[in-house]
Amino acid sequence: MFVQRCINSDCRSEFDLAARIYVCSRCGNLLDIEKTSRVLDEAGDLQELWNSRLTKPFTLRDRSGVWRFIEFLPFLESDAIVSLGEGNTPLYDAPRCAAYCGLDSLRLKHQGNNPTGSFKDTGMTIAVTQALKLGIKLVACASTGNTAASLAAYAARANLVCAILVPEGQVSEAKLAQALDYGAKVIEIEGNFDVCMRVIQELAEQDLLYLVNSINPFRIEGQKTVAFELSEQLQWEPPDHLIVPGGNLGNSSAFGKGFRELLGHGLTRKQPRISVIQAEGAAPFARFFATNGETEFVNEEHPQTLALAIKIGAPVSWKKGWRAVRETGGRVISVTEQEIADAKAMIGRDGIGCEPASATTVAGIRKLVKDGFIKREDSVVAVLTGHVLKDTDYVIRYHSDTLVAPGQRIRGTFANTITRVAARPCAIESVLKNLS
Ligand code: F0G
Repeated sequence: MFVQRCINSDCRSEFDLAARIYVCSRCGNLLDIEKTSRVLDEAGDLQELWNSRLTKPFTLRDRSGVWRFIEFLPFLESDAIVSLGEGNTPLYDAPRCAAYCGLDSLRLKHQGNNPTGSFKDTGMTIAVTQALKLGIKLVACASTGNTAASLAAYAARANLVCAILVPEGQVSEAKLAQALDYGAKVIEIEGNFDVCMRVIQELAEQDLLYLVNSINPFRIEGQKTVAFELSEQLQWEPPDHLIVPGGNLGNSSAFGKGFRELLGHGLTRKQPRISVIQAEGAAPFARFFATNGETEFVNEEHPQTLALAIKIGAPVSWKKGWRAVRETGGRVISVTEQEIADAKAMIGRDGIGCEPASATTVAGIRKLVKDGFIKREDSVVAVLTGHVLKDTDYVIRYHSDTLVAPGQRIRGTFANTITRVAARPCAIESVLKNLS
């Protein structure tokens, strides 16, 4: 049995799963999906069951890295699901990045290896499945690009009409291209992501559409399964530190919930410290953390960063993100545009690659190691949220030393420049001889 429950400890109002709401209709706070009955299976039996599904004859339901964990999801085995085979993403060792950060080792959980190239798919499979269950016709979201691409794909699979609201000129071409190809109605507006979010929430209140941004608690249910999958990959021993980028703060919220549930059901013995990294020009959560949560949460009016995915000044899920960080003893810090760009190049040099927003993690870890919060020998996992091909313009500019952030030029510290030579073997040979 599952219900929707208000996260405000003074309210705790309960709503049916079928209630088409996004926030508590009494006090306006965020909602959690809560399991009201315990999973009766022993931890060991569940772990075995989840693993065994991976080797079953191929069905998306069994193999999906989200639906594999259905015992902790608010659906029945008999429900029709919308899946593209999301999840089951690799956990890579990243020795170059580890050395760069001052760690003995570092692992990168690459959520960019999802069907549409970002972590959004793990949440979207659940949210669109819920839309189908509710008999919704029109699904929608505001987006900096990845949510849009993901929703567009899952809506297409489910045969639902899909509209996305994006800030004009602030979404990478690759992400827009995906949304267009998957058949979504793309609506550009003047104004940033926060404006898109505000407007679409107003429309959702009028029941004109079903909103699947991460304010929708079903999204979080899907994304929490990454904590399950990651724990499984680590033989059910979570790392000391988990580092995630922070934008709207749905992802950090989801990891907090996932690891809380794992511990609560005896599936693991500890929660990792969850730390969130923001871009310096879009860091309201880091500022809130710096006051120890003792001030009002102040939005950033004019967020600025080349990491467009996290160019967000008014994160809708900050209360859940705060709960995850506080409960696990993590930190929230910001990193500069230069630090993000260099960390991204380093992730590339490990043969992995990611989009700019994801690279905040490695930049953040480097800082957290320097100030002693993370120890050299700690086990650390960084979550890469998007694929390297999500923003190739940024990559090419960095490597040609022409990347410019608002008011500053970014150095191509690890730039890998293209060499132009005449089409003659001897010219190419001289280049090859100089390679080390
Ligand atoms: N990394 C990437 C690649 C993202 O696309 C996002 C958010 C984040 C990190 C931040 O995650 O919002 O859960 O804290 N992208 C949203 C979008 C806002 O519309 O695609 P968060």
